Amino acid sequence: MSCGQKEWEQQFLKKIYEKRLKTVDSVKSLYPYTTKNGRYDAVSPARFNWTCGFWGGIQWLLYEYGKDERFLQRAKVCTDDVAKALSEFLALSHDLGFQFLPTTVKGYAMTGNERYKTVSLYAANLLAGRFNPNGRFIRAWDEGNGAYQGLTSGLAIIDCMMNLPLLYWAGREMEDTRFAQIANAHADTVIKEFVRKDGSVNHIVIFNPETGEVIDKPQGQGYAKGSSWTRGQAWAIYGFADAYKNTGKKEYLDTALKVAKYFIGEMEERLIPPIDFKQPPEVDYCDTTAGAIAAAGMTILKEYAESDAEILEKMICRLLEGAYRNCSFDTEEDSVLQNGSEMYHTKTGIKMPIIYGDYYLIEALMLRNSGLSII
Ligand code: GLY
Repeated sequence: MSCGQKEWEQQFLKKIYEKRLKTVDSVKSLYPYTTKNGRYDAVSPARFNWTCGFWGGIQWLLYEYGKDERFLQRAKVCTDDVAKALSEFLALSHDLGFQFLPTTVKGYAMTGNERYKTVSLYAANLLAGRFNPNGRFIRAWDEGNGAYQGLTSGLAIIDCMMNLPLLYWAGREMEDTRFAQIANAHADTVIKEFVRKDGSVNHIVIFNPETGEVIDKPQGQGYAKGSSWTRGQAWAIYGFADAYKNTGKKEYLDTALKVAKYFIGEMEERLIPPIDFKQPPEVDYCDTTAGAIAAAGMTILKEYAESDAEILEKMICRLLEGAYRNCSFDTEEDSVLQNGSEMYHTKTGIKMPIIYGDYYLIEALMLRNSGLSII
């Protein structure tokens, strides 16, 4: 059996599910991020950073998949705690979609709990409030981000494409088109200023926050200025595919395809993306999380891609094969997907399991095998 055969993918998903079921009570942290000596809890989690929604999100996905009540209980505990980020006004930047889509929005969709809806709407309003009307972008980080002191009110990053679904969702709930207007304005700016002619994307663009003029396009998490950080390419594929799903705007579909084709071309015969498509040939740095995110994003895109569906399917299969070869199904290791690369390691190549690798891998497999429909 191999990837591309439904049964192989179903077995893959089942193996992840069974591992999580065996460990459902042993992981105590509500915000696991990476493991040390195989254990999530040995690493002190950064409560309420941009990754705080993924563990709760995994619990919701697994509850949806297997209907085991223990996942539901865990999902609720995690989601209730993530909701506290709003009342404590902690770590609330443009990452609100990463934090609240997998938790409160998903929890509302699955349970109808009105409190989850309220929290999600607050989060969406905060995200909308970060829109810069002159520059037509959603501001990324706040002051305190060391590298960009004094410039943060003009920062936008490619990752933010993943936060737009929170705005599309809120617009539908509130019957208010302003949310989609903001999301679309941001996406249009990304097409204009982030997406390069060859289909690759910049990580960061710095705008003058008063005039909207572009000041710089720095290296960000890429290997060098002008390079192609693969997780950023994956965020763009997924984000534009999802923006198309939410709006039906052809330019978003075209952009998702353009970036996806660039990604596929640069992958050549590889199963795991490098950290950066333009990293020097002598380094063998790789990032399984970029592969998992790209597989999920291309799965959404494939639904609408028509004549490009076949090349997308081949790439998704290779990415899932690569992910499988990097998975641990052993309960002595808490995480599933190994060998991700986090933001600080673009230049070191240090590999580690990271919680969003597991999240997007499970999501990709569920999108393909269990009728999961994302928001
Ligand atoms: N959103 C931050 C990262 O992808 O590293």
